[in-house]
Amino acid sequence: MKKLLRGLLWLVLIVVVAASGVLAAGWWHVRSTASTPIAVNDPPLQLPTDAEGLALGEHLFTTRGCTDCHGEDGAGRLVMDAGPLGRFVAANITPQVLIAQGYDADRIAAAIRHGVRADGTPLLFMPSPDYHELSDRDVAAMVAHMATLTPSAQDPGASHVGPLGWVLGLFGKFPIFPATSLDHTPRARAAVEPAVSVAYGEYVGRMCAGCHGANYAGGPPLAPGTPPVADLRPSALKGWTEADFLRALREGKRPDGSDIDPFMPWNMTSRMTDTELRALWAFLSQLPSG
Ligand code: HEC
Ligand code: HEC
Repeated sequence: MKKLLRGLLWLVLIVVVAASGVLAAGWWHVRSTASTPIAVNDPPLQLPTDAEGLALGEHLFTTRGCTDCHGEDGAGRLVMDAGPLGRFVAANITPQVLIAQGYDADRIAAAIRHGVRADGTPLLFMPSPDYHELSDRDVAAMVAHMATLTPSAQDPGASHVGPLGWVLGLFGKFPIFPATSLDHTPRARAAVEPAVSVAYGEYVGRMCAGCHGANYAGGPPLAPGTPPVADLRPSALKGWTEADFLRALREGKRPDGSDIDPFMPWNMTSRMTDTELRALWAFLSQLPSG
């Protein structure tokens, strides 16, 4: 009996030590990644100063997800408190706040496309993989628009990673630092002309892939209390017409009249142009079926 008890105690001790080891390794992994700068040296941007360029920037800023997370005014907000996983706070990205942190136009573009701070260290959770291929023209327009946002000193708090996040991050199961999955080789990115084309649909559709998956096959819910992510491949949208698709992304209604959950940002896609939505449809319609 005594022997058994001693054996059990040893077992508990080993489990506790092993679990603390994994926790410590995960914590260390997050700490060291967070403090290691990544060099980003894309060619310097030419910011537009004309009304057309600024209007393009505003359109992109409000239809590519920025305002969904950072707020309509860009003053930042709590996106999600996922307990032991972490706290997702989209930063205040109004001009004075960014300047005070050492950002200039090219550093802001690096934050958007590469997920790094002004000092090159990786940002937490900022979905830069969705924006990695944004053309120089489009990102320059966005940055020019951001400079016109009304200054705000609001402090939305800071993002942080919790113990569960440390461990999942250690095993590559949780994209804490999206920057670490990206290629940072300097290069220019040519503009993709807006047209009802598969190429433009693929370009716009990159921002849907962050939720719907690289192959647009959807998957399990991304956060507690939200629905599973829908499959957007032709096999799943069988029977949908282009008009059905436009209505879904403008009014949040499926062809059968049922409501699409607002976690799917149709409030934002409702502001997309016909060309953008029709190009998305052209692109999705030619995807291989599952
Ligand atoms: C899914 C939510 C989400 C979306 C969408 C998003 N961001 Fe972010 N962004 C974040 C989070 C979270 C951070 C804070 C990262 C941190 O604190 O380490 C951030 C950080 C930033 C920063 C750096 C701020 C700083 O304080 O260093 C900039 C600039 C930025 N985002 C711009 C944009 C722009 C422009 C867009 C649209 C193209 C965008 N973001 C879309 C979540 C998001
Ligand atoms: C923040 C994550 C997120 C983003 C970004 C996102 N979606 Fe969704 N989408 C969802 C979720 C979750 C659902 C399922 C909603 C439901 O079940 O009510 C969905 C549903 C849909 C549907 C309805 C499909 C069906 O069969 O019911 C369409 C169409 C769609 N998304 C298209 C898009 C397109 C196109 C984009 C990019 C412009 C996009 N989504 C961006 C999360 C997202």
